[in-house]
Parts: sequence; structure tokens; C-alpha cells
Amino acid sequence: MTLIRAQGLTKTYVTGEVEVPAVKGVDFTINAKSFVAFVGPSGSGKSTLLNMIGCLDHPTGGRLSVLDTDVSTLNRRSAANFRGQHIGFVFQDFNLIPILTVYENVEYPLIMVQDWPEQTRRKQVMRLLDAVGMSAQAGKRPDQISGGQKQRVAVARALATNAQLVLADEPTANLDHDTAYRVIELMKKMRDELGTTFVFSTHDPKIMGEAEVVYTLEDGKLRAPSLKSEAAHA
Ligand SMILES: Nc1ncnc2c1ncn2[C@@H]1O[C@H](COP(=O)(O)OP(=O)(O)OP(=O)(O)O)[C@@H](O)[C@H]1O
Ligand SMILES: [Mg+2]
Repeated sequence: MTLIRAQGLTKTYVTGEVEVPAVKGVDFTINAKSFVAFVGPSGSGKSTLLNMIGCLDHPTGGRLSVLDTDVSTLNRRSAANFRGQHIGFVFQDFNLIPILTVYENVEYPLIMVQDWPEQTRRKQVMRLLDAVGMSAQAGKRPDQISGGQKQRVAVARALATNAQLVLADEPTANLDHDTAYRVIELMKKMRDELGTTFVFSTHDPKIMGEAEVVYTLEDGKLRAPSLKSEAAHA
């Protein structure tokens, strides 16, 4: 089943008189339950592409369908709604709320984005903290845990609303290599267990080798995708 389909997808930023073509007519499909990486040098368009998939930014051309919804036509409110219902995000700098505990950070979208009753919330948060190996730290605050642990909590938070798709723009950029590798392994485990589709971007060739499909961006254009076996030898 195809989860994401892009056809001639284009984004040109316009600032004053200057036009910056960031994504130049790319075509790709991403299957449900897959584990996909976008790679490419700085400025190649990775964040722009992920932001369009995540309905944080509008395409300026082409078509983009996410979960059978044509997201290029959504207005601001519908886009926010769509995100809240279907998409989880993991960020490079973790973005945990410093005054909330680990538990409360994972619970947050279940209160603020969706309106879950307390008992179901508790069950969901504990189940996810357990799955990411963080239940023993549930009462700690973000400044009391390591970077890798923060990103584990962020993965749990992204999955809290049972999102079908998790987008992670350079989720390992602020982690040392071993920790980065373990966070990617964790995402893969969650994909295996929950069937969530994960799409992430990275600079790190070793991390990239963990993806099943690797899309390489170069100056806003896409190279042919490589499958895991090729990527591992790249
Ligand atoms: N808000 C914006 N306004 C104008 N130009 C932008 C904007 N965001 C990105 N760009 C430009 O679009 C191009 C693609 O940027 P993008 O951030 O998508 O690249 P990236 O692959 O994510 O890079 P990095 O690896 O450094 O994060 C770059 O030329 C960038 O300068
Ligand atoms: Mg980027």
C-alpha cells in the first residue's frame, strides 16, 4: 500500500525579488510500514521535502498525497488537524518541554492534540515508555537524562497518538555515533512492532545504511532510490 505519493513535487521559496528553487519536481512513493531515509548534502532540500510531507509547508507545484489525502490543497487549519491526527514528529534538538517530566512529555499530545480520557492515556504512555526503555525514568525532567534518552522519549511522544507516519528531520544530528545508531534501531523496532511508517533524513552514511529505501537528494532533485543491499555497500 502506498502511503505517500509525490508527482512533480516542487517548492520554490520567494523572498522579495529572489526565488530559491529548493525542491525541483521530484517523484517518489513511500509504502506503508516502510523505513525510509532521505539523504543529501546541506541545502539539497531534505528539510523542505519533509516539511511538505508533514504539512508544515506548502508545495508550490506538483502533487503530494499523504494517506490518500491531497495535502497540497489543505488550508492552515486543515493541515494542523491532519498533522494532529496522523503524523508524529521527531526533531534534531529533541524539543521536549523542559518543565514537564518524561511521562508528561509523552502524555502531552494526548491532552493537547487529541482528547484522550485519563485511564487510556496512562496505559498508552506507560506502554510506550516501556517500549522505548524509558519507564524507569518517567518522573525525571529532560535536563536529568542524556541526549539519547531524550530522543527515545521523543520517539515515544511521536507515537503517542498512534500516528501512522513519523517524520524525523536529522533525528541523530546531536547524538554521538553509537547513540545515533541505537535511536535508529529503536525506530525500526517500533516500526516492526506497530507498523508505523518512518521517514527520516540524515547526513550519516552508516545511519543511512539502516534504511530499507534511501532517496538521495542533490540540489533539489532526486537520484534513483537505492534498496538496502545497495545502500549498505555505498
Ligand atoms: N524558508 C526559506 N526561505 C528561503 N529559502 C529557504 C528556506 N528554507 C530553505 N531554503 C533554501 O532551500 C534550499 C533547501 O534547503 P533545506 O533546508 O531543505 O536543505 P537541507 O537538505 O535540509 O539542508 P541541511 O542538511 O543543511 O539541513 C536551500 O538552498 C535553502 O537555502
Ligand atoms: Mg535540513
